Amino acid sequence: MKNIDLEICTGTTCYLLGAADLIDVLENLPEPLRERINLRGVACEDLCKSGSRPPFVKINGIVIGEMTSERLLATLENTLGGTTC
Ligand code: FES
Repeated sequence: MKNIDLEICTGTTCYLLGAADLIDVLENLPEPLRERINLRGVACEDLCKSGSRPPFVKINGIVIGEMTSERLLATLENTLGGTTC
């Protein structure tokens, strides 16, 4: 069964612009799905100073900006297969 490595930037900018909501969404996923996500909070890697938009996440090594709760759920669903809700 496929798992996901998910890093969420918990630097101040990302946190204030939505990372806190992303973490909340993940904490409320059904347990069988949560167990398939290797979640790590990471410090600011200065992506927020690159002109891209926070909050940033890294899914299986791929950086994605402007992440929203809806996009995160859709991405997890696509990557894990099946439904997240
Ligand atoms: S606070 Fe997230 S990349 Fe800077």
